[in-house]
Amino acid sequence: MKNDFSIFQGKRILVTGSTGFKGSWLCEWLLNIGAEVSGFALKPKPYALLFEQLDLQNRIDQHYGDIRDAETVLSVFNKTKPEVVIHLAAQALVRDSYKNPKETFDTNIAGGVNLLEAIRMSNDVRALVFITSDKCYYNKEWEWGYRENDELGGKDPYSASKAAAEIVFTAYQESYFRVRKDFAAATTRAGNVIGGGDWSKDRIVPDCIRSLISGDDIILRNPQSTRPWQHVLEPLSGYLSVAKALLDNAPGSASAWNFGPDPENVRPVRELAEKAIQIWGTGNLRDEIDPNALHEANLLMLANEKAKSILGWRARWNFDHAIEQTVLWYKKVNKGTSPIEVTRSQIKDYMQEMKT
Ligand SMILES: NC(=O)c1ccc[n+]([C@@H]2O[C@H](COP(=O)([O-])OP(=O)(O)OC[C@H]3O[C@@H](n4cnc5c(N)ncnc54)[C@H](O)[C@@H]3O)[C@@H](O)[C@H]2O)c1
Repeated sequence: MKNDFSIFQGKRILVTGSTGFKGSWLCEWLLNIGAEVSGFALKPKPYALLFEQLDLQNRIDQHYGDIRDAETVLSVFNKTKPEVVIHLAAQALVRDSYKNPKETFDTNIAGGVNLLEAIRMSNDVRALVFITSDKCYYNKEWEWGYRENDELGGKDPYSASKAAAEIVFTAYQESYFRVRKDFAAATTRAGNVIGGGDWSKDRIVPDCIRSLISGDDIILRNPQSTRPWQHVLEPLSGYLSVAKALLDNAPGSASAWNFGPDPENVRPVRELAEKAIQIWGTGNLRDEIDPNALHEANLLMLANEKAKSILGWRARWNFDHAIEQTVLWYKKVNKGTSPIEVTRSQIKDYMQEMKT
């Protein structure tokens, strides 16, 4: 199936978590398709520069507020009357979830309930894509990929909150949504992503870029550890494919979907850093391995066969291309090209790739 997202042209689409990393890329993509985009989120965190770099505050209908407040969520729905909702808002960091478990549970579970309630009461919404995470699966330290019907659960507050959000979603799906003729909903699960405009702390790509810009060595603490690398546009194309299938009433679309990279994209951190230096054109690496570092749980791999066979989704950018596009984003912006122009052109290239 060739994915053509023209179905979203002129559609009123609400993106929760619009000020975040994925939300900013998604809003830009939807603007490019010609959707009427509304956003709902907290004000961007100081390090979340992409929302401002893309000037989304002035280009979408942005509403600031807290998803933990049910009245606020309802009022945003009343103002924006969305036809499609893509729910990304979350306390999205595992590390912060250890520091603030209550905030994580309140945002990711109770906030999710507020959103589902607003949907239950809305007559306008036709499709909901509810984003959770690959971490919603109970991590059994398996080597092979988790499938959509595998056991849910989490050993840390973030993972548990995402598993719980899935369970709450299922209750709404089976109690209220499944019987509606005019509305369909699905959940989606993806893992860590890379891409231009991520300025978070303690993440390998932004850390590399900061070092490359300042001329300092890139310091690698876990050079041999491997990650399933995936460009942000890959899961976003998955979310849009699901939204389209829901609007089309495609059989089986109102279910759970994994959007994970192919196994050959699992590569060591060192390879990513070396590739980043090569594309940047200059830079040095230094290993600083901490002998007392905590043991890292094996990262989950997602089985992606369901999305491939039913939605016709597949990963378009392999490891090399994903890193290249990511580093080029920062390089071009650092040399003065407008972030909007760079982002748009990468989205255009990706959409071109989707036609093949
Ligand atoms: N980025 C990844 O690698 C990754 C991996 C797996 C799953 N996810 C999931 O994808 C979604 C987006 O991730 P991201 O990386 O863009 O996260 P992010 O931290 O960059 O953005 C989170 C967004 O949620 C909003 N938000 C947080 N608390 C809120 C509240 N109380 N009320 C209203 N809005 C609130 C923030 O304002 C922000 O817009 C999240 O649900 C996350 O759990 C992300």
